[in-house]
Amino acid sequence: MKYLGTMKDIDGVLEIGGISVKKLQKEYGTPLYVYDLELMENKMKNIKSSFKSDRFKTTIVYASKAYLSKGMTQVVDRMGFHIDAVSSGELYTILSSNFPAKKIHMHGNNKSLEEIDMCVENEIGSIILDNRFEADRVAEACKKFNKKMNVMLRLNIGIDAHTHEYIKTSKHSSKFGESIFDRDIVSIVSEIIQKKELNFLGFHCHIGSQIFDEMAFCEGIKTMVEFTKKISQELDIVIPEINIGGGFGVRYTEEDTDVDLKKIMKKIIGCLEESLESAELTIENVSIEPGRSIVAQAGSTLYTVGGEKKTFGGEKYIFIDGGMTDNIRPALYQAKYECIVANRLDENKKEIVTLAGKCCESGDIIAKNIKLNRCVAGDIVLVSCTGAYGHSMSSNYNKALRPAVVFVKNGKSYLISKRETYEELVQNDFMFNENID
Ligand SMILES: Cc1ncc(COP(=O)(O)O)c(C=O)c1O
Repeated sequence: MKYLGTMKDIDGVLEIGGISVKKLQKEYGTPLYVYDLELMENKMKNIKSSFKSDRFKTTIVYASKAYLSKGMTQVVDRMGFHIDAVSSGELYTILSSNFPAKKIHMHGNNKSLEEIDMCVENEIGSIILDNRFEADRVAEACKKFNKKMNVMLRLNIGIDAHTHEYIKTSKHSSKFGESIFDRDIVSIVSEIIQKKELNFLGFHCHIGSQIFDEMAFCEGIKTMVEFTKKISQELDIVIPEINIGGGFGVRYTEEDTDVDLKKIMKKIIGCLEESLESAELTIENVSIEPGRSIVAQAGSTLYTVGGEKKTFGGEKYIFIDGGMTDNIRPALYQAKYECIVANRLDENKKEIVTLAGKCCESGDIIAKNIKLNRCVAGDIVLVSCTGAYGHSMSSNYNKALRPAVVFVKNGKSYLISKRETYEELVQNDFMFNENID
């Protein structure tokens, strides 16, 4: 397993942020999400220092769906980043941590009236309209609260850059945004700009996740710039902003290439400047929305080994005390991870094993056929790079208690979310208080 961030081998025991995993296991129990705060801050600093241009202002919006907690919003705010939300739950979490409302941006392809009201009433920075109908709903909410709202329009630009490659054909059926190829697209924008309750900032796109190919971003930027130019000419308006979304790739295992965030940011800035110059277009501000690239590598999950099993079929399982409830990604889309027995780093004997969770699902596998140092019950297995879409996609399946989250830095640990209790697990349940025979 590749050591990430502040991970260190101290006499055979892994340390993160200056704290040994044994100490973390003892103090907080397992499963436990551990975030290396220094690594996370370094990722943010790298993006901030390189996503800059002399020709336009830049805004970095942290995509909170990757991982969100009140503590995380404090880190994001301290770094001077903005933040996005996709649901009233995310919005509530962010607002309740006193994050500056003007730096919050709301996404979602089916925002409820309640969600729209929440955005308008709290005067958040902007709403990214998914479609033409939302413009009417947002305008109605503005009338109700006597407010004006900044809006962008999410575009489907016809580039589908999911996982490593980009193709220019299969993307038109995405549920997100309005297509730039739609013959009504000019009138859709025209309707939005005519609403006096709305302040139209510009266009948004997001071409996918885990993108390693810089050219996919450049292709997207070129399309966005050309489209912005076309609309500003046809409607004779100034469009001040574009937002090109997130999706910057992350190395999970040796199968992925290592990504230099500074390099990719500079490349994107170069593509933006080039595209704007050749389109003879001026843009005031360009935003990006990184999520995974900020938190994925900073997060690790600690598990305690319960036991092992060699099956008649020859598979050797190591059983851990969590699983698909704290990390659904392997079951959901065959995501791969690197793991290590973190309290036995000097154990040289290695075996090919499958790391299985404790849920009642055969698919509850965290890592299949991986090389792991030998371990026994009570040992600590660390799965690295679980910081994005692990905690945020966790569930109570089999009534698992959601694990605690700690941030670690310089020998100190900070409890960010406590482990769920049995009482909390049933707190919303009611029992019949009458005879139902
Ligand atoms: C609109 C939007 N912006 C940003 C992101 C963040 O992507 P990533 O975490 O891959 O950077 C997503 C992810 O789905 C998204 O849908």
